[in-house]
Amino acid sequence: MARYTEDQIEQVRSANDIVEVIGASVRLKRSGSGYVGLCPFHNEKSPSFSVSPSRQMYKCFGCGAGGNVITFVMEYENYSFPEAMEYLAERVGISLPKKELSMQQKREENLRMTLVEINAKAARYYYATLKSPQGRLGYEYLRGRELTDETILRFGLGYAGQGGGELYRYLKKEGYDDAVLKETGLFKMDERGVYDKFWNRVMFPIMDANNRVIGFGGRVMGDAKPKYLNSPETKIFDKSRNLFGLNYAKQGKRKSFILCEGYMDVIALHQAGFTGAVASLGTAFTEQQANLLRRYTDEVLLTYDSDGAGVKAALRAIPILRRNGITGRVVHMDPYKDPDEFIKALGKDEFAKRIEEAENSFFFEISVLRKNYDIRDPEQRTKFIHEMARKLLVFGDKVQRDSYLEALSAKYTIPQDDLRRLVIRYSGMEPEGYREAMEEKRQESRRQKANKEPEGMGYTYQLFLSWLVDKPGLFAQVRKIIQVDDYCEEPYHRVAEMLYGQLEQGTPEPAKIINCFEDVTQQNAVAKMFQTTFDAEMNLRDQEKAINELALRIKEHSIEQKIRSLEDVNGLQSLIEQKKALQTPGKLHISLKDG
Ligand code: GTP
Ligand code: MN
Repeated sequence: MARYTEDQIEQVRSANDIVEVIGASVRLKRSGSGYVGLCPFHNEKSPSFSVSPSRQMYKCFGCGAGGNVITFVMEYENYSFPEAMEYLAERVGISLPKKELSMQQKREENLRMTLVEINAKAARYYYATLKSPQGRLGYEYLRGRELTDETILRFGLGYAGQGGGELYRYLKKEGYDDAVLKETGLFKMDERGVYDKFWNRVMFPIMDANNRVIGFGGRVMGDAKPKYLNSPETKIFDKSRNLFGLNYAKQGKRKSFILCEGYMDVIALHQAGFTGAVASLGTAFTEQQANLLRRYTDEVLLTYDSDGAGVKAALRAIPILRRNGITGRVVHMDPYKDPDEFIKALGKDEFAKRIEEAENSFFFEISVLRKNYDIRDPEQRTKFIHEMARKLLVFGDKVQRDSYLEALSAKYTIPQDDLRRLVIRYSGMEPEGYREAMEEKRQESRRQKANKEPEGMGYTYQLFLSWLVDKPGLFAQVRKIIQVDDYCEEPYHRVAEMLYGQLEQGTPEPAKIINCFEDVTQQNAVAKMFQTTFDAEMNLRDQEKAINELALRIKEHSIEQKIRSLEDVNGLQSLIEQKKALQTPGKLHISLKDG
């Protein structure tokens, strides 16, 4: 919180109406006093995502996402807290003071901004060249590959001329000095002089998820080597954390993303209407990229080249996806090499069919394995079956593993019981894939935990605080019975402290309380505290009963905690008496009639 004051955060939050902000990216329908829509954070067919204008909060009953307008921007745009603040401030024209940085940090920040600026200028320069007579070669090359002018513009494709120094001269004229230009990775510098790294290549600007150009890929004209040349990693370009095409693919909601190998594949796919296509940047697919995709989808279609290297790449990507909670499916493009060639030859409708027929990634792994064995030979067949049993252990979930086991035994005509016995035998050891299975299990239980009611007193506090926000008129009664210090766990204690403060002033503003937590997970948890809903059917008397039970539980627990941490015996007597008194009928009572 060091960077913005509470007042600044609240000013920005309250100036941005949550319905407007969310409504810009999610189609919302009025429902009762709020709005509902399809959750942008997980795939669903019927809406479980709701936005409350009065509370200025959102909540998904399906996946547990929830928070205030700042949380939403953090989750949806994948921004940090300060980035979300800046975005929302700008949206409503509030100017925030610049953060206080050390000299060193300032220099770094300035450098990064300058690098982004130079990359953008370079992209514009390459594009202008492509469209000029000097760029004819590149332009005709791209048109020859059936890209339309519209596509060329959308992806900002360009051409680096044949002179080898045009970009350098241009940027010098723009006033940049060599020290900065060196950091862009766009130049070669040695004692003989400075040269453009890219020349006689068509240029593919690489954008991050927020449409900032952070580097380039360049394809040579003709058959020279290397075919593709990429910007080196720089202060703003980290290959393992970005995906080509993600800035477009992340727009709009889709069932799945398409992961391919090349820039041209992504572009050809987008042009054909498959706008969920992305590619890793000339390197193998990474854990961080899977993690990035996980924010937008839970199914990825792999369209790697159908040659040996492509199969290998797919086999590497599948476990990475699986570990990150993404289902992989393999799209077969034979007899063509990649999606670009496929679409050119057979068209988009055929490609859509191949997507429909995409193979379950586990079956794909097994069928690749199968090629290593001549299963007419009994020895080899045995080995294959053993290998299959070991592979089945990647599924930590028994039901899932059994389903796969049944499917495989049918597909390769192996008696189910035999296969099952082997699986059991191998599950006692630690075979290949075992660790992945365990990790998957851990992740699953983490997911379940996140969706489950919290342990201990958490759920009680949640219900009680939600209810208090709903019925602020009862605060006068409540404060006499339950004080802030009776909430014995964080973050409930801190939240109660803030809520009581607000209620003393008048109206509860739960969305404001969320401001105090910077981390999205914490914000989700705090949001949950205010969105536990009550059964609307409950009559007043039952409600009253339920609420008084909650109050009693909170008070009792608080006294017990005090007793436990007590050192002075005199105090003990009084606490025990207080606890006993709680049982006296009418002693502790909140009446709903005053609400
Ligand atoms: P086109 O021939 O233009 O259709 O390219 P492609 O995408 O079919 O090429 P290929 O399958 O050979 O390469 C796929 C991806 O791997 C490219 O988009 C590049 O990111 C990367 N790549 C290919 N060749 C090279 C190379 O020589 N050097 C580097 N660094 N990356 C390469
Ligand atoms: Mn190709």
